[in-house]
Amino acid sequence: MNAAENWTTIAKSEEIEEGIGREFLVGTRIVAVFRVDGQLFAIDGICPHQGGPLADGAVRDGCVTCPWHGWQFELTSGRHTISGRSLAETFPIRNRDGIVELIVADEV
Ligand code: FES
Repeated sequence: MNAAENWTTIAKSEEIEEGIGREFLVGTRIVAVFRVDGQLFAIDGICPHQGGPLADGAVRDGCVTCPWHGWQFELTSGRHTISGRSLAETFPIRNRDGIVELIVADEV
């Protein structure tokens, strides 16, 4: 895959506030985007437990907590903090000249 051809613009950088999740529809996927200590993260926006909105979750210590039943996922890996299993997909994300872009692999 040539990643350079698959970046999708989702927002201006200033639209992603520190510690407040934003939800985006990218292709057919809902993606939750966070900024933590200035760094951007993108994770599947649909909780793998029962479909809760991860963009509405609280972020602490590099993890997002699903607002529905409290499952927690590492923003860097999508790993469930208790089981250690990679349950939530994560996506490459970058800030390029003030524009936030990400790659969703199965975007159509
Ligand atoms: S739907 Fe996310 S923890 Fe249950």
